[in-house]
Amino acid sequence: LPLPAPYRTELPVPPVLQPVRTDATTDYYEVTASVGTAQIIPGHPTQVWGYQGIFPGPTIESRSGRRTVVTHRNELAHPTSVHLHGGHTPHDSDGYPLDLITPKNGATGGMAGMSGMSGMSGADYQPQRDYTYPMNQRAATLWYHDHTMGFTGPQVYRGLAGFHLVRDDEEAAAGLPAGPRELPLMIADRAFEADGSFAYPALDPDEGKVGVTADYMNGVLGDVILVNGAPWPVARVDRARYRLRLLNASNARRYRLALDPQPPGGGGLLQVGSDGGLLESPVAHDSIDLASAERFDVVVDFSRYPAGSSVRLVNQLGSGSTAEVLRFDIGTAAVTDDSRVPAKLSTIEKLDPAKAVHTRTFTFQKSQTNWTINGEEYRPGHSLASPELGQVEIWRFVTDVHHPVHLHLDPFQVIGRDGKTKPGPFDAGWKDTVDVLPAEGVEVAVRFTDYAGRFLLHCHNLEHEDMAMMAEFTTK
Ligand code: C2O
Ligand code: CU
Ligand code: CU
Repeated sequence: LPLPAPYRTELPVPPVLQPVRTDATTDYYEVTASVGTAQIIPGHPTQVWGYQGIFPGPTIESRSGRRTVVTHRNELAHPTSVHLHGGHTPHDSDGYPLDLITPKNGATGGMAGMSGMSGMSGADYQPQRDYTYPMNQRAATLWYHDHTMGFTGPQVYRGLAGFHLVRDDEEAAAGLPAGPRELPLMIADRAFEADGSFAYPALDPDEGKVGVTADYMNGVLGDVILVNGAPWPVARVDRARYRLRLLNASNARRYRLALDPQPPGGGGLLQVGSDGGLLESPVAHDSIDLASAERFDVVVDFSRYPAGSSVRLVNQLGSGSTAEVLRFDIGTAAVTDDSRVPAKLSTIEKLDPAKAVHTRTFTFQKSQTNWTINGEEYRPGHSLASPELGQVEIWRFVTDVHHPVHLHLDPFQVIGRDGKTKPGPFDAGWKDTVDVLPAEGVEVAVRFTDYAGRFLLHCHNLEHEDMAMMAEFTTK
């Protein structure tokens, strides 16, 4: 399939979903996973599996402290499970991989043969499910995506991902760029077949897992970089500050994002937030490393560039088509900009590693046939740790190759990396996913709160996750 030239499509922004109903405490939403058609490669329509049939799905916006209930329906021919990534969510709404929303026809697809799936029958038919999010958490860029046992990779690849933004008063008071100058940017690479369909190697939910190849095993990569579902789009921007909520929703690709050219004096990517919301104070970067599932909230001031110029967001880890991401075309009109980036954004409670009641080590490595944590393949119901609610613990993640490690339920703080007792340049603030480099160790301080139950710890390379690099911990 001949790839389109970059920078021909206008940057789309996912629509914001309106609640179907609200009451004194709660906003109610309805989302249906269905098959849709997207025009990604001109002249070659792509079938997507999308929330509301679109990719990315609609953006949901919540207020901190106000409950959000999302009724998810499934009109696909395959089971789904929906996880709110970054959500402080009780177990029963967390998108546990076996808590499936099952369509009536073809309910099990190729999953019937999978361990843990074999008991599924017509009796388990559950075409919709209510997910209740207390939203007892601060403003942050969250996202929702599929989390089905063994099939998260192909299902997210087909499009089951969307933004879920949490807003609060502190963030509003900061005065960051807002409205049309706040852009959620979902970055995801995809490969395409000659007919325009998504190319996903060696695995088809209709056939089960067949012929697992090294391409699949190491994580699926594409040669087309999509931003909000469009290939290398162009965003027309004012000569003003913009807030970019960067999300790496790729199955496996890492990016090193930089502005090209850099603005005079550098530091063009001014980070104001991470996975878990605002940082204490902004951090200026020339480039940002972004592993799967990580979010970086950055402010770019386009008034540092000449009127009418263009600046690209490039991927310094890519080459050829994967080195290009997005182009900003800066307008010539004089505009007003009353946004600001305060030197102090927030106050972050520091988890004290000296108070840790436990240190646990989780080793992420390949086995003969699979990816494992502490030598074990994921087994539903089998817990590797039982942390006590309210207590600080130190968790160490040790890896063979690159693994973006993600925890459900609560964010953490990186306290050390590669034997040093300080975080790396991209570890500031509250994180829920940390990019662990090959043969590195990362230490985090974590404190789980509020909800007792079973939660997940896994690699967010989605093929690694599907190939068993996932574990449970049970909070008490
Ligand atoms: Cu974004 Cu358990 O995943
Ligand atoms: Cu998560
Ligand atoms: Cu991994």
